[in-house]
Amino acid sequence: MINRRKIWLAAVLIPAAMAFGQQYGGMWIPTELNEKEMKEMGMKISAKQIFDPSKPSIKDAVVQFNGGCTAEIISPQGLLLTNHHCGYGQIQKHSSVQNDYLSEGFWAQNTKGELPNPGVTVDFIADIKEVTKDVLAGTQNQDDAAAQNLIDRNIETVKQGFKLEPWQKVVIKPAYYGNKYYAYVIETYKDVRLVGAPPSSIGKFGSDTDNWVWPRHTGDFAMFRIYADKNNKPAEYSEDNVPYKPKYFLPVSIKDKQEDDFTFVFGFPGRTTEYLPAIAVEKVMNETDPAMISVREVALKTLDEKMRADNETRIKYASKFASIANYWKKWIGEVEGLKKSDAVGKKQQYEQMLISKNSQIKPTIDGLNRLYTEQGPYALNRAYYTETVRNAETLTLANLFTNYIQSYEAGKIDSKTLESLKSRLSGFYMNYDAVLDAKVTAQLIALYADKTAPQFLPKGWEQYQDEAKNIALIENMSKNSVITGRAALKGATVYSDIDKVFEDQNALVKNLKKDPLMKLFSELRETYIRTTDGKVNALQSEIDALQKKYMAQQMETDKDRKFFPDANSTLRVTYGKVKGSNPRDAVYYGYQTHVAGIMEKYVPGDYEFDVPRKLIDLYNNKDFGIYKDKTGDVPVNFTATNHTTGGNSGSPALDAHGNLIGLNFDRQWEGTMSDINFDPRFSRNIMVDTKYILFIIDKYADAKWLLNEMKIVK
Ligand code: ARG
Ligand code: GLU
Repeated sequence: MINRRKIWLAAVLIPAAMAFGQQYGGMWIPTELNEKEMKEMGMKISAKQIFDPSKPSIKDAVVQFNGGCTAEIISPQGLLLTNHHCGYGQIQKHSSVQNDYLSEGFWAQNTKGELPNPGVTVDFIADIKEVTKDVLAGTQNQDDAAAQNLIDRNIETVKQGFKLEPWQKVVIKPAYYGNKYYAYVIETYKDVRLVGAPPSSIGKFGSDTDNWVWPRHTGDFAMFRIYADKNNKPAEYSEDNVPYKPKYFLPVSIKDKQEDDFTFVFGFPGRTTEYLPAIAVEKVMNETDPAMISVREVALKTLDEKMRADNETRIKYASKFASIANYWKKWIGEVEGLKKSDAVGKKQQYEQMLISKNSQIKPTIDGLNRLYTEQGPYALNRAYYTETVRNAETLTLANLFTNYIQSYEAGKIDSKTLESLKSRLSGFYMNYDAVLDAKVTAQLIALYADKTAPQFLPKGWEQYQDEAKNIALIENMSKNSVITGRAALKGATVYSDIDKVFEDQNALVKNLKKDPLMKLFSELRETYIRTTDGKVNALQSEIDALQKKYMAQQMETDKDRKFFPDANSTLRVTYGKVKGSNPRDAVYYGYQTHVAGIMEKYVPGDYEFDVPRKLIDLYNNKDFGIYKDKTGDVPVNFTATNHTTGGNSGSPALDAHGNLIGLNFDRQWEGTMSDINFDPRFSRNIMVDTKYILFIIDKYADAKWLLNEMKIVK
């Protein structure tokens, strides 16, 4: 629902967005915050309240969830909030056709009813220390290889210097392309239980059609709880564990929002590349992104047909499909956004500006131009190869088994590696449809044969360009293959007893070597290794060395710019304002959506846009409780100018006082090039409004016991 007054507001306020120094976005290390600018923009708390290693601070409520997402603690009993799509794998694991928590949602009635998730972890950051001087000590006059050696040894020494508790570890990571180093003291909790999740028709409303898109109406949240031993310390899952007592938890605000309110997002952004030269951006935009998009497009189309037709396939492939579709769509938006924001042109201008101030930058840029151009064809082949092996699951399997054979023959299979391979494989087979994948694999091989330059193509692979012929051929190989399970299991495709597969490893290796799909894959892999792998990596090392220099030169030369390190899955703060946008000529996006907008999108029975009966009733009866805003409706999602990326999913969005106002889960499509080139005109992060989250917990799920744990700011 976009109301006219808001449109007008958005239009006049846009120039202000550019005024507050957000030209390049920013994901700041929490120990190096620009408190002054944050306060000027409206922040009412101090930087110390956000991050303080010695006193409880907001950072004690923010965790990395299972290595990939972010989550936050919202009660004194370790209640954890993250995205539905971050907990999706766990919700799926507890689901079956009979007990379909994906479709129906899940709400524990009390702590006893919470579901354990062995293997799921949350990481707290106890401290952050810059350790550049010690890590780079003695490397000044060494060549790259010797310097790297010394850096590795220095890192070990620096680590030894940390006084750690038994449940802590320290990780040292480079920033600014190796011009700086930071140490992170980490505490990992391992007993994390599922507490609640809305049905997918709320938590994933709009699914892939709406993914990355604004205006958005997704209740993308799920709740977990951290458990600890009786001393409140990390412990493996045990019935005797108790809810974790946090040092700090976030109060949850249900106050109305206004456009231009100050907001910040605290979390673990994964990876960005904001300091590339123009040539590298051009390669991403014109070559590697389009290649990766084309591979995924083929896989998605075939999976989608069967998932729509068959419920069992839908559940099996739900998580995988979402993950393939996610980046497929992001890359399409990224390419468009790079073009539209003229990222290459702007970078070229920037390079000229730098050179005019510092002539020593010219040889660096020239070198990068030469290296990226030389690397181009190899990087393109790497893009096709890795995406093909990732999305053709049968080839993923063949790759796993090839690695296994090599380790086995080198005598390197100990019981630990074997166990981890087995658990990886049994997880894989559980959600694998060999017949369906044979079709995907056949099509991807055809695409690869068609798109790959002759020097990179295995001998004789021109024959695979014909998709129809390939489908028959691969289906036949698949039927007679051990890796698909179909040969060994007489047609079935699920190895229910993976131990049995590895009972006689000698025989297994012999059979694998005769396997038609293994043979086919080895032609692909060997050609790739011979023609591309070494070359692309060698050039990458040269690029990395020069990129390090370029980074240092940018920082020395462009004194007015405030630099932040590219995202690297470490804890960061990004700040901005609640704001709509003007993504295209004459198009204005309001900053907030409401439940009315869900009803506008409602398509009964549709797998993406169905709405649960109870939500419709609540809407029709205007049964909004204390969660409606000044419009009389419940706000669902909102956008702001925070600079976020993958990994920020589940990150808390906080207000000027440090209260939780939203849950980050996405970015708007027109701005997804912010990983490479943040543009304040279009780059917006998308959050679920805390009002909607509490409305669903209270009115939809009737899970009042969870609300009672929270500190709600009205
Ligand atoms: N685009 C969001 C992110 O990158 C959400 C992805 C999950 N949702 C989906 N429909 N695939 O994680
Ligand atoms: N959905 C993303 C995630 O999983 C966040 C969206 C983004 O890339 O900004 O982290």
